[in-house]
Order: sequence, then C-alpha cells, then structure tokens
Amino acid sequence: MPSLPLSALASTAHALVAPAKGILAADESFPTIEKRFKPLGIASTEATRRAYRETLFTAPELGEFVSGVILFDETLRQKSREGVPFPALLQQLGIVPGIKVDQGVTALANFPDEKITQGLDGLRERLKTYHELGARFTKWRAVFTIKGNSLPSRTCIEANAQRLAQFAALSQEADLVPIVEPEILMTGDHGLEHNEDVAEVVLHTVFAALVSHRVQLEAMLLKPAMVLPGVDCPQQASDIEIATHTLRCLRRTVPAAVPGIVFLSGGQTPDQASQRLAAINRAGEGPWALSFSFGRALQDPALKAWSGKPEHVLAAQAALLDHARQNSAALKR
Ligand code: 13P
Repeated sequence: MPSLPLSALASTAHALVAPAKGILAADESFPTIEKRFKPLGIASTEATRRAYRETLFTAPELGEFVSGVILFDETLRQKSREGVPFPALLQQLGIVPGIKVDQGVTALANFPDEKITQGLDGLRERLKTYHELGARFTKWRAVFTIKGNSLPSRTCIEANAQRLAQFAALSQEADLVPIVEPEILMTGDHGLEHNEDVAEVVLHTVFAALVSHRVQLEAMLLKPAMVLPGVDCPQQASDIEIATHTLRCLRRTVPAAVPGIVFLSGGQTPDQASQRLAAINRAGEGPWALSFSFGRALQDPALKAWSGKPEHVLAAQAALLDHARQNSAALKR
C-alpha cells in the first residue's frame, strides 16, 4: 500500500521506535533520584546527579541501542564536563532528547489510595522553553493502583485520562512528541486476568480522551506497563502468558495509527523485563513497534556499579551497555 508522507512530528515518533532501538528513561525527579542514590550511600546533589547522568549519556555506542533519553528538568539544563549542554551532547550521538513534564502525583481528593498527576498549570509556557532547550519529545505519567474490584475507580481513570490527553495535545501544539504513560502498578495480589481487565478499561478511556482532544495518533507513543500478576499474587505467570495477555489487551485498545508502544519496567528485575520484552516481540506481529522505555531495568546495574565513584565510570557504562544491548536484542521478531 502506498504510504503517505509523515509529518515532522510523526517522523520523530517513528525515530524513537527505530528497529532495534528503545528509550532510556533517566528522568528521575529529585525525590526519586534521592531514593535510588540513598541505599548506595551517594548524596543527591546537583554535582552528583550531573556526574551520574554524564556517565550514562557518554557510554560508548549507546546510540546503537538507544533512540532517545528522557531527561528531568534539571538535567536538560546541565552540561558535560567539557561544557556541552546534555541535549546537544545526546543529539551529537544520534539520540533524541526528551523531557518529563508532569510534576508528580498527589492524592486524588475524596478517593483514598488513588493518585492524580499534576503539572498542567503553565505547561504551555514550559513546553516552549523545553523545545528551545532542545527537547523533541515529552512524557507524562499517570498511576493506577489495583485493589479488589473497587480500585482503580472510574473517577480516577477518567480524571487521569483527561490530563494525559491535555498534556498530549499541548505537546503536539509545541512540536513535541508526547509519550503517554498510564502506569498500572504491580503492587497487590491480583491475578494476570484481572490486570488485563483493568488495563483494557484504562487504555480504552485514555484513547477515547486522546481522540476527543484531537491528538494526532501518528505522532505519539504509548508507554504502558506489561500485563502482569500483582507481586503478591500466589499464582505468578510465565513469560509466554504475560506476552499473550499483554498483546491481547493492546490489540483491543491501541489504534494501529500509533507508531510504537514502549514499555516501562515498573520494578521488574532487568532480566525479567528483557525476557518478557523478548517474549512479547516473539509472540506476534502487532501493527506497532513494541519496544522499551526502561528506567530501573536499564539503570539499576549501572548505578550500582558506579556508586558515586569516578573510578567506576567505565564499569557503570559497561553495565548500561550490556542491558541496552540485551533489550535491543529482545526486539527481534
Ligand atoms: P521504570 O522502567 O523504572 O518503571 O521507569 C520508567 C519510567 O519512566 C517511569 O515513569
């Protein structure tokens, strides 16, 4: 079938899911990076955060496996030791710089245990600045907790879906590709099927909101969690079962116009995340690229190897590349 030319924005979305490539999520907010640094005895300061991110971004040949990096506001404004702004450094390596634009989650009033993501106020102005600083894509994360049959509530799903859609529309207006991240948390004792049912409702609601806000589906990416049993569920699932349920849910809910689905790792071990990603890709052709946008599953081994010590930079980079290579290999169909 002859294909229509892609818009510039859609081309960026496609570049982010280029064959054998995925995204490195390195967009930890101040509280999150502190939580990651603390067990390793690393103080979270402007200098240590900069040094750590430079270690990741300058890993040799990172661009062979990584198409884009999601940055945090502070990192987008930081520079390498040689004085090159991080967005420019990534661009020189053929890696697209992106930015987390939500401002974290807060309690959803009247709904105990549920969260709403904040950050829409002033977003149009911030997006303009982010584009000027070199960002070419954005990310917004919403979180949903499964608990019995009552959570997530319809209100929580709808309120977060509206915000995801408003974020996506504003991003496209600012010439930035939105990564829409509705994360269903792994915590709980729910089974695989129950997670699939919840994910189906969440994704239907999110896409209905995206369509209603006239978001161009060809110029966005979806970042979901894989469909998994809760961590406390006595009946865990095989990689094949996870792949089958994940794909069935995505086929039922994600329009074929979306160029790519990039999974988060969500607390799976690096090996689990890679093996399941490989099983998903082997389980069948979807209309979309199925890739990764991992934070912990790519960074944890590298962070541990580095542990804040300049003499461990090479070991940290080797650990990052190992896992980036492994995830790139997992994309083979
Ligand atoms: P994890 O892969 O560690 O879940 O992080 C991905 C991410 O960007 C969460 O917003």
